[in-house]
Amino acid sequence: MASKASATAPLSVLILAAGQGKRMNSDLPKVLQPLAGRALLRHVLDTSAKLDAAAVHVIYGHGGETVRAACAGAKVGWIHQAEQLGTGHAVQQAVPQLPDAHRVLILYGDVPLISAQTLGELLAAAGNQGIGLLTANFTPPTGYGRIVRGSRGQVLRIVEEREASARERKLSECNTGIMALPAKALKRWLKQLKNSNAQREYYLTDIIALAVKDRVRITPLLASSTTEVLGVNDRLQLATLETAYRQQRAHELLHAGVTLTDPMRIDIRGEVSCGRDVVIEPNVLLEGPIHLGDRVRVGPHCVLREVSVGADTHIKSHSVIEQAQIGKRCQIGPYARLRPGAQLHEDVHVGNFVEIKQSELGEGSKANHLSYIGDARIGAGVNVGAGTITCNYDGANKWRTEIGDDAFIGSGTMLVAPVRVGKGATIGAGSTITSDAPEAQLTLERSRQVSIAHWQRPTKKK
Ligand code: UD1
Ligand code: CA
Repeated sequence: MASKASATAPLSVLILAAGQGKRMNSDLPKVLQPLAGRALLRHVLDTSAKLDAAAVHVIYGHGGETVRAACAGAKVGWIHQAEQLGTGHAVQQAVPQLPDAHRVLILYGDVPLISAQTLGELLAAAGNQGIGLLTANFTPPTGYGRIVRGSRGQVLRIVEEREASARERKLSECNTGIMALPAKALKRWLKQLKNSNAQREYYLTDIIALAVKDRVRITPLLASSTTEVLGVNDRLQLATLETAYRQQRAHELLHAGVTLTDPMRIDIRGEVSCGRDVVIEPNVLLEGPIHLGDRVRVGPHCVLREVSVGADTHIKSHSVIEQAQIGKRCQIGPYARLRPGAQLHEDVHVGNFVEIKQSELGEGSKANHLSYIGDARIGAGVNVGAGTITCNYDGANKWRTEIGDDAFIGSGTMLVAPVRVGKGATIGAGSTITSDAPEAQLTLERSRQVSIAHWQRPTKKK
């Protein structure tokens, strides 16, 4: 049976990531430099994962095993390029892994912001038998290969800057390096590459002229934004991309109806979703997955990582919140620290210099000042006085503290876990509680106060 002409051939993605990145002046391999908290290569891997590819291969070399280790868990094949003899040589390393019937998409580990949408358009432009070439107008085009077109506008070849004539250097249309092409023909062209150029490298870009000779259709696609095709060669470019990324994410939130008092001063990473009329003040870092409910307000200088926040909650300035769940109408901060496993029900108040870890606070409970609450379950309507500490760690093991509904814990209480405080119990201020405190009673542990008359303060010896 004849196969349908419209059926798309399976896709192999190749990510070139073997280069050293000398101009970063760093001990870290270039593709592991972080952009928005994620390695450059990670960005490309995450985008590749959206492409429905049959296989994704990473060509790695410089940085060797550290690159692989940093991307552990990614569903990719690793192909080692022992010596970096050029982009064409890098692709040659993958030849044994590329079935003839596949289409190949070439990506760069140092071009992190390329979008899945643009790649989809490029693949569509290439079809099964043609080449899709992603180009961009960089100003200035310094450092990039230039697209040389013929009199009818057809692509003739790519010339690298070092080999370009003065006239070619004036061309502003550049090669982004990203292209889609049929595997079988690619293999044929790779065999014909020579390294007789200024850098004595095998240039992948030379295959374009070979494709023209073979009369293969080349469809150039001009990238709609240059940021998505910008490569990172030095830290200035990395910083430029960081700014671009920050702006792009801020704009998404603004369009979704979030108020950002200063869109230039917010960092958004990962999945962040917001309800209606959320307000985020300056210098906030959000690392998803995060959900902020309707009318949530996040004050300045807060860091939120993997949290969900119920409607009408106010997180005040300088709070750091990680892997926590926060209910509706809570008041958090300023200077609160919620660590993994903090779970606050509705109407909870957590004030300044309060740290909460692996603990649940029931509806309407309050811990307003200077406390540590770890491995505790606190019921509803509990008041935790200033300076209260759950002593949860004996140097070897962690122990739990349980506090019943409506209990009142006086200021400066040490709750030495494991320990329970019953419902409605009151603990006198300054107590060190080492055994369970019964329901509805006052429990206190305090030495009797004494006053010594005629006592003299020591004086300094002459
Ligand atoms: C390359 C293109 C140029 C294009 C530019 C876009 C060639 C010859 N030139 O130039 O036309 O405008 O990208 O950014 O292709 N790499 C390897 N192994 C190697 C060499 C490179 O894996 O042996 C990887 C690098 O890690 C990098 C990518 O390929 O991710 C590009 O290499 P780089 O040396 O930066 O190429 P450019 O000179 O920028
Ligand atoms: Ca480059």
